[in-house]
Amino acid sequence: METEKRYKRACTIDRRLIYDTQDIFGAGTDTSATTTEWAMAELMKNPKVMEKAQAECVIKETLRLHPPAPLTPRESIKSCEIGEYKIPLKARVINNLWAIARDPKHWPDADCFRPERFDGSSADYKGTNFQYIPFGAGRRMCPGIAFGIANVELQLAQLRYHFDWKLPHGMKSEELNMTEAFGASVKRKDPLLLTATLVMSSSA
Ligand code: HEM
Repeated sequence: METEKRYKRACTIDRRLIYDTQDIFGAGTDTSATTTEWAMAELMKNPKVMEKAQAECVIKETLRLHPPAPLTPRESIKSCEIGEYKIPLKARVINNLWAIARDPKHWPDADCFRPERFDGSSADYKGTNFQYIPFGAGRRMCPGIAFGIANVELQLAQLRYHFDWKLPHGMKSEELNMTEAFGASVKRKDPLLLTATLVMSSSA
């Protein structure tokens, strides 16, 4: 009897570990890769920004326009009023981070890619500036912020340091299609196709 109990407990712990590991891989890989692809696309679309862009501001602005996980579901634990909305107890509420971060009330030229808007600005993604919450907010906000940002920063730095990037077949930057495709994360409808030329470093 005791052995059976121990076996069942071990199975439950194993299953929990598997689910947690799946969560971490699922939530941690696609989001960072999608953000890097959008950042590269925005830089190709806005070549002037590419020349002088500060990585931190580019990533912040990319996450504002293209939060990879744009809808965060919650259930209300009491009835309340938010603006003109009456939220009943136990209502399923879906926060639209994408729409919040493009609200012209908070963001001048909301749909434009302007990394410099974050230059010297205190707005960050840690869940306290509610007009900008690409990692969510509250107790269930993303626990992988530091890892996610480091991932994107490293990938972008390596891509930009080692290669020169061009759009293929003489395509102009204004022709680059920025349509989104909705899924578990918001990816590009057309994958980003670029021509890379290796930059030879003199110290290599
Ligand atoms: C650019 C990168 C990333 C973005 C934009 C992002 C965004 C998000 C968002 C919006 C949520 C939902 C938060 C909420 O409901 O309030 C979330 C949850 C989560 N993220 Fe991330 N994430 C990123 C990277 C990562 C990484 C690298 C990891 C781990 C290695 C990770 C692990 C998780 C986990 C486990 C959850 C679920 C938390 C919970 O439900 O309690 N994320 N993420």
